[in-house]
Amino acid sequence: MTGWMMSKCFFPGSFDPFTFGHRNIIEKAQKISEHIIIGIGRHHKKNSLIDIKERELLISDSIKEIKAPNTQIDVITFDGLLVQAARDNQCSVIIRGIRDTSDLNYEMRMHNTNRHIEPDIETIFIPTDNELNHVSSSLVKQVFQLGGSIESLVPENINKYLIKNSNSIT
Ligand code: PNS
Repeated sequence: MTGWMMSKCFFPGSFDPFTFGHRNIIEKAQKISEHIIIGIGRHHKKNSLIDIKERELLISDSIKEIKAPNTQIDVITFDGLLVQAARDNQCSVIIRGIRDTSDLNYEMRMHNTNRHIEPDIETIFIPTDNELNHVSSSLVKQVFQLGGSIESLVPENINKYLIKNSNSIT
């Protein structure tokens, strides 16, 4: 462990679907933490593209190729408050990816709300690499639902899953 290494981090999201942008943040988070919990939040009101349990399996599979030898990465699902899920998983740090200033405005509000509820949990923002800063789950979802190719936007197993199940999920 180096001086930069943090304890367990919680990386939350809907990941519907998990994209190369999310994967980019996990690659970077591994440089500062040896244990990352990817937390898939359940949205009761949002219509999901991929079932949450299926998302959990697909994400576990797609991170295998980027996992650093000394890092532990777990994938879990959670209901309710993000800070509660982070605490339940003994994480004192939340990681969020930032693509641009509109993300930053939204994320600052989320950070301030989370800090209000749970002051002991800190949020760390990690910038997405430039070539991926147009990639968002909602745009990927839209492109897929309108019949466009998402091959260059999501990991291969997720692209294959979506194509295979396109009749039942679009
Ligand atoms: O992928 P997303 O949509 O950016 O992820 C959103 C997520 C799951 C992180 C967010 O919806 C969330 O924090 N859900 C839990 C509810 C909560 O804690 N709300 C108060 C914090 S603002």
